[in-house]
Amino acid sequence: MIDAERAERLIQAATASRANSVSHRSGFAVGAAIEAEDGKIYGGCNVENSTYGLTVCAERVAVWKALSEGVRKFRAVAVVTGADSPTPPCGACRQILWEFVGDVPIVSATVGGARKFYTVGELLPEPFDF
Ligand code: THU
Repeated sequence: MIDAERAERLIQAATASRANSVSHRSGFAVGAAIEAEDGKIYGGCNVENSTYGLTVCAERVAVWKALSEGVRKFRAVAVVTGADSPTPPCGACRQILWEFVGDVPIVSATVGGARKFYTVGELLPEPFDF
């Protein structure tokens, strides 16, 4: 569970990261934020490039940022888009979140104020572990 106050703080951070989105190809800007165990927040935005396949989602950018700072324990994830309804993380990001962030709460939010709550485990049943 994530309480409303922490969820809104995380959504705010994801919204701030979304402003840096490099998404001129799709026009779909995404922001993500991950809360570490000590309360510190790591943000990320999607980054697209001219060879579309190298695009990196906002969630993974946030994970790479935190991991590269030496952070290994996390409490929650937020994702923000401009879609009509909240969008969950893509399949690739679910695997990365499961492996590196763990079975934590995720809140998907829209800039319009809609929210949907899940856990990483709910979004990735029967995960691959190696
Ligand atoms: N995208 C994310 O950043 N996160 C997701 O979970 C789904 C998709 C990005 C990738 C691409 O830049 C754009 O959204 C459209 O797919």
